[in-house]
Amino acid sequence: MNVLVIGGAGYIGSHCCKALSQAGYTPIVYDNLSKGHAHAVKWGPLEVGDTADGERLHDVVRRYDVRGAIYLASFIEVSESVVDSLSYYHNNVANTVSVLQQLQSIGAFVFSSTAAVYGEPKTIPIKEDTELHPINPYGWSKFMSERIIQDQFASGGVPYAILRYFNAAGADPYGEIGEEHEPESHLIPRACLSVLNGKCSFPVYGSDYPTRDGTAIRDYIHVTDLANAHVLALSHLLDGGQPDIFNLGSGQGLTVLEVLQALREASGEVLDLRFEDRRPGDPAVLLADARKAKRVLGWRPAITEPEDIVGTAFAFLKSRALRDAPVYLRQLSA
Ligand SMILES: NC(=O)c1ccc[n+]([C@@H]2O[C@H](COP(=O)([O-])OP(=O)(O)OC[C@H]3O[C@@H](n4cnc5c(N)ncnc54)[C@H](O)[C@@H]3O)[C@@H](O)[C@H]2O)c1
Repeated sequence: MNVLVIGGAGYIGSHCCKALSQAGYTPIVYDNLSKGHAHAVKWGPLEVGDTADGERLHDVVRRYDVRGAIYLASFIEVSESVVDSLSYYHNNVANTVSVLQQLQSIGAFVFSSTAAVYGEPKTIPIKEDTELHPINPYGWSKFMSERIIQDQFASGGVPYAILRYFNAAGADPYGEIGEEHEPESHLIPRACLSVLNGKCSFPVYGSDYPTRDGTAIRDYIHVTDLANAHVLALSHLLDGGQPDIFNLGSGQGLTVLEVLQALREASGEVLDLRFEDRRPGDPAVLLADARKAKRVLGWRPAITEPEDIVGTAFAFLKSRALRDAPVYLRQLSA
């Protein structure tokens, strides 16, 4: 069965394609390559196109007889969304409408949402029915898309699974794909790249949070586990399961210092830390209650050790750095 993966040339999308292929589906990637990479599309055809281009999308859906879709394409940078909100509302919200208009005949629509829809919640761990209070345009763009997706279903549209990811992390354990954002704003790849580039000073934002070591706690979920949840959500809907919203997180938080300790174990390198003030809008703790995904979808995260989450990210970025390095550097490291 052909499944459309919109944004499938990106970080999470490429891991979804691998998981779909392993489960017997053929992933058809639709991506404008604005942020993604053609070399990450390995498990099915790549159709280069924009989500705003309804005619092109319609043609792809018809030609491949697509039965389900995973919709990951969006802009993802919180800070960029604050300074350029209209681009975010255009790509993440207006284009959600365009995409849904072309997908009304399919049986399952899996949507990438985010913990950013919760803002700074008062109760931890965060359940799906926690009140939504986004605190930046990125979070609002996902909030609005969620609403649009639910409303179109209520008026006879396509069944949905909205997946609210916490912090996606790590890379394919076989090193075939990984996180290649440009610029990179996520803690784990930034710290890995800092080690690989030999940078001496690495910033840690906030060391006076009320947490076990004073640094902020986040819920890191391995990208392979995240990808497997998409396959389960898709099958759930295709089998006639109820549309629903699911948190995807490990429920086990790591502080920034614990992440950096795991990197130290994976790389053998020690980063020189520079402690900075907290950044506005960065809560002390974000932790998922993901029991619903476990109960309804039968989802079980498998890669949960910090050394494995951080270690797979480091291994991928190291191999990429060596591949891209001049020949003499490769010889030196051999
Ligand atoms: N990375 C995380 O930790 C995280 C956390 C929560 C939610 N999410 C959500 O998951 C999804 C995927 O995130 P990612 O980290 O893989 O991002 P990514 O940037 O690596 O992937 C997004 C892909 O979508 C494509 N794309 C963007 N706009 C497009 C358009 N208009 N038409 C066609 N293709 C377009 C890009 O080229 C890219 O390949 C996003 O919706 C993001 O909001 C990510």
